[in-house]
Amino acid sequence: MIDDLRKEIENIKEKLLNEIDDIQSLEEYQSLRDKYLSRKKGILASLMSKLKELPPSEKPVFGNILNSAKKFTEEKLNEFEIKLVSKSEKSIDGTLPEFDTIIGGTHLITYIRRSIENIFLNMGYKIAEGPEIEFDENNFTLLNFKEDHPARDEQDTFFIKDFPDMLLRTHTSPVQVRYMKNTKPPIKIISPGKVFRKDEPDATHVPVFHQIEGLLVDTDINFSHLKGTLEIFLRALFGDDTSLRFRPGYFPFTEPSAEVDISCFLCGGTDNKCRICKGSGWLEILGSGMVHREVLANCGIDPDVYSGFAFGLGIERIAMLKYGVTDLRFLFENDLRFNNQFG
Ligand code: PHE
Repeated sequence: MIDDLRKEIENIKEKLLNEIDDIQSLEEYQSLRDKYLSRKKGILASLMSKLKELPPSEKPVFGNILNSAKKFTEEKLNEFEIKLVSKSEKSIDGTLPEFDTIIGGTHLITYIRRSIENIFLNMGYKIAEGPEIEFDENNFTLLNFKEDHPARDEQDTFFIKDFPDMLLRTHTSPVQVRYMKNTKPPIKIISPGKVFRKDEPDATHVPVFHQIEGLLVDTDINFSHLKGTLEIFLRALFGDDTSLRFRPGYFPFTEPSAEVDISCFLCGGTDNKCRICKGSGWLEILGSGMVHREVLANCGIDPDVYSGFAFGLGIERIAMLKYGVTDLRFLFENDLRFNNQFG
């Protein structure tokens, strides 16, 4: 009797190996596994019923044979399962929910800021930062804003209640003031950061935005240094064939001052309906000028020995022009459908 059973089990093992060879899919594998190993209806489980029919002395022998057959079956099936899963793409279960891992990216404003920083780091500039809550003195007075300058109006600037000499900085120029007060020239810095102005949010205005300003102070610095530097900077940012146009401008802290335009990189002035230059061929990009003697003196630098230039631009404006952002509010809404298009 026990010998018959032994033989039967050997046959079962052989059959198993043949059937494994024929398997094509994970479904077939699963049903083969059930056929042999299912606790209720599996072939090996049903052999257990034969145990009752054996004389007591043979029971443990048969138990051992059965157990090793079970182990054999499991091993062969497991080995095969690993092969099946690794070789067949069909084994991916498309009914499982997707992983909801969100892979982050660089925000467009950060991306543009870093691109600009890198251009200046390559020219030997240092990055200087300062507080967003500033003294009126650093933001306005030392920069030669007169008492009645319109920017000092409650309408335009966030002043801080109970602290009449403090405000949210309206530009990053106070960083340059702080730096000049503490450092002997030569000075070569850019100051990126958030700035604040009382604007009602709409497509082209937001009450908080980002600037990068640059400052260079040394002996014998003149307007051509400013021009050459901006040419290198703007061509690196907008392309080698970009032309620059300097127009007279006014800032209290620079004299002379210039607004700088670049040639339109989209249509070059050939399209009357151009989205960004409207056919004029020029795009207003930044403000600049030679640092006012008054400002140097206010910051403890002798204007008879040193001179310097400065410039400043808004990062959001670059986002609109170069990356086609049509509404500044998109930059602050953290909607991944928007953010993931960049960086
Ligand atoms: N501070 C100016 C602004 O906020 C920008 C600027 C910086 C202009 C330096 C000239 C020189 O708009």
